[in-house]
Amino acid sequence: MFTHDKKFKPFNNKVWLATPTMHGEELQWMTDAFNKNWMSTVGENINEVERLAAAKIGCKYAVALSSGTAALHLAVKLAGIKRGDKVFCSDMTFSATLNPVVYEGGVPIFIDTERDTWNMDPVALEKAFELYPDVKHIVMANLYGTPGKMDELRAVADRHGAVIIEDAAESLGATYKGKQTGTFGDIGIISFNGNKIVTGSSGGMLLTDDIEQANKARKWSTQSRENAPWYQHEDLGYNYRMSNVIAGVIRGQLPYLEEHIARKKAVFERYKAGFKGLPVVMNPFDEKNSAPNYWLSCMLIDSAAMCKHVRGETEACYVGQAGKSCPTEILETLAAYNAEGRPIWKPMHMQPIYRNNPFVTVEGDGRGRTNAYISGVGVDVGMDIFNRGLCLPSDIKMTAEQQDTVIAIVRACFE
Ligand SMILES: Cc1ncc(COP(=O)(O)O)c(C=O)c1O
Repeated sequence: MFTHDKKFKPFNNKVWLATPTMHGEELQWMTDAFNKNWMSTVGENINEVERLAAAKIGCKYAVALSSGTAALHLAVKLAGIKRGDKVFCSDMTFSATLNPVVYEGGVPIFIDTERDTWNMDPVALEKAFELYPDVKHIVMANLYGTPGKMDELRAVADRHGAVIIEDAAESLGATYKGKQTGTFGDIGIISFNGNKIVTGSSGGMLLTDDIEQANKARKWSTQSRENAPWYQHEDLGYNYRMSNVIAGVIRGQLPYLEEHIARKKAVFERYKAGFKGLPVVMNPFDEKNSAPNYWLSCMLIDSAAMCKHVRGETEACYVGQAGKSCPTEILETLAAYNAEGRPIWKPMHMQPIYRNNPFVTVEGDGRGRTNAYISGVGVDVGMDIFNRGLCLPSDIKMTAEQQDTVIAIVRACFE
């Protein structure tokens, strides 16, 4: 329960969750596009960011697009997902991971989350194949910059001849067994949205080792023009190509990816040290095999240290208790001091739009609910993390002093 009303001074300058961190070269490459009048969806910046991204990530082709969502949409089309196809999708993620499945008429079947990395649970995935043996596509995300259990997920997919679309929107630069995320799927995607670890203000890329896929994605993204003297179309087209001006921003940002990761890691480590003795843990990762990009630092409150806390569809309330707290109390208290946190992504099976879709858990009966849930005494993993977790201010421009105050505010919530 927060007991330090007058102890902290509100931040004069807001402490943000994650905002763009610019360096100067971004403006130089945007200006270059302007000066050369390459202000459209062709130009040197686009070619160069495709080259830089593919080289960094270690894939053969990176296709520059207007957003990560556009990249996911083209990935879904390339993978051949069609009307009525069931697709196994991450449950605890941003809805953009799987909305493109629905754009194409596919039906997401949500797979519960594991506790070790907060990503798609390979055990639940295996179980999903027992329940739905005909499924041929998986869409999984690496949440908050932490790689999922890629070997296990790949083994399950291969056993059932399924294709993986890997959503690395949040995990650019993160590695699993030394390999970059975005390369574990048959098709990968990244995002340069404004809050990502490097940004173009917007933008995304489709990653593949298959030249035919890359060529198709490029063609579809520019309205599917055929090679003819007039506008000739054999396929449905989209206006999904990246602008050369946006590519200029990304061209200036990409060289700073490793620096941004190091600074994000320092933020994570400072929280971890600062929360010593509190009944909380930071978002977990496989310390032996993976190196996250630490995009967002998150914390999870021990069950025993949760005060009474309920969430409706759009509102939450809690009852303060000595020695306990909850995500709503912490987020509201941070906001009162002019600092921005965020709830954990609300799982898709809890969303009104997807509530009737199947949801597979390790413990469940295959009808979408865990045994514990059915008996009314517990919740699935995704719901549990959503209930007890939150994203902390993770902006790399936050000063050490500001972060120490954030830590002190969180600590005060547990007094
Ligand atoms: C996991 C995840 N997938 C997909 C997206 C979509 O990317 P974009 O905003 O570039 O469309 C985002 C972020 O916005 C994301 O966090």
